Amino acid sequence: MSRKMRCRSCGQDEAIVARSYCEDCFGPLEIVYDYDAIRARVDRDAIAARPRGVFRFAELLPVEEVPSFSHEVGETPLMPAPRLAKALGLTDVFLKNDAVNAPTLSFKDRVVAMALGKAKELGFDKVGCASTGNLANSVAAQSRRADLEAYILIPTGLEAAKILGSAVYNTTLVEVEGVYDDVNRLCAQLADQLPIGFVNVNLRPYYAEGSKTFGFEIAESLGWRAPDAVVCPMAGGSLIGKIHKAFSELETLGWIASNGARMYGAQAAGCQPIVDAFERGDDEILPAKPDTIAKSLAIGNPADGYFASKLIRETGGVATGVSDDAIVDGMRLLADTEGVFAETAGGVTVGVAKELAAKGHLKAGETVVLAITGNGLKTSDALATQLPPPKHIKARTDEFVAIFEGAAS
Ligand SMILES: Cc1ncc(COP(=O)(O)O)c(C=O)c1O
Ligand SMILES: [Zn+2]
Repeated sequence: MSRKMRCRSCGQDEAIVARSYCEDCFGPLEIVYDYDAIRARVDRDAIAARPRGVFRFAELLPVEEVPSFSHEVGETPLMPAPRLAKALGLTDVFLKNDAVNAPTLSFKDRVVAMALGKAKELGFDKVGCASTGNLANSVAAQSRRADLEAYILIPTGLEAAKILGSAVYNTTLVEVEGVYDDVNRLCAQLADQLPIGFVNVNLRPYYAEGSKTFGFEIAESLGWRAPDAVVCPMAGGSLIGKIHKAFSELETLGWIASNGARMYGAQAAGCQPIVDAFERGDDEILPAKPDTIAKSLAIGNPADGYFASKLIRETGGVATGVSDDAIVDGMRLLADTEGVFAETAGGVTVGVAKELAAKGHLKAGETVVLAITGNGLKTSDALATQLPPPKHIKARTDEFVAIFEGAAS
């Protein structure tokens, strides 16, 4: 099914090209679909019956053909979280758990599957990315099975596990002096000079659409309905908008009754340009200088920040930031109540959800989905000094019994 692109700012239509911005007004380009044609061609039961994976939703994704790789991506659990709900004073809380996404344990696997599929269609044999870590892991991994050369650019100071989790795939990994925003600027310049499909730069419109599958799967898992509220971590501000777009598309197709989801945006207080824009009320992004343990969210000048702030306001949600201490508390609360070890971004989501519940934005009786977007093993540095060491004993029953009786009393 043929697709085209449209400028989100001036509405101008564009052909499918490797560019993320409108040449007239520099507004961001977005993929446009023919929903009448899609409705005539498939229904939700046909989608549900297809082989598992993000490409089940092919008609609503930017690739013309389903690629031969990356079929393992997506289909992560939507987990009821009654113990966490109770701790927050809520009732119907669910975790959309992309901490167990394949192949690299974050939601970025979804966006990379789309970007690499499109890179192939557009004739690229080399791809790249500017990344805060998770995207790097996913481009490095998925480029192998897609037979693409990969150039991975990261800022200095990332977590050891995220560096190792890119290096292992034997791609070209480049650490650039500076923060993510410096890396991103460099990649934008390189994309103009070199034949590289940078997934989140010149392929950004296609890449971003992959995040809709996070939303499609939530609605399907809820029995084809939108939740009342979603709490989502924000870096570039893309994911939150695409989850909402997914629900709206399902509504347009008549596959869910309506999209009344309120979208809540979560950032670390040490890098909260979208929260600041929301709180000022004008939605304009004033770049921030990141200083937080939530390194995956440390984007000071978010590309989709304006649209994220505006969407949050329009849906009746709120954008909130939490301290690094609250992030660690959030990670530990999630692990303690639900047995889920999320990365710092998950701590941001849980920390913000706790605050939103305390302030009455989220209420008992509502269906609330928390976006858990990455795995805790990748950011173990954040907890290293926070947890007690294991109790150390000799291999003797009396030493263990003393611990057992101490724990039981
Ligand atoms: C684990 C995790 N969660 C959330 C996000 C935020 O996504 P977005 O940049 O689409 O706002 C990122 C981005 O890098 C991430 O790595
Ligand atoms: Zn335009």
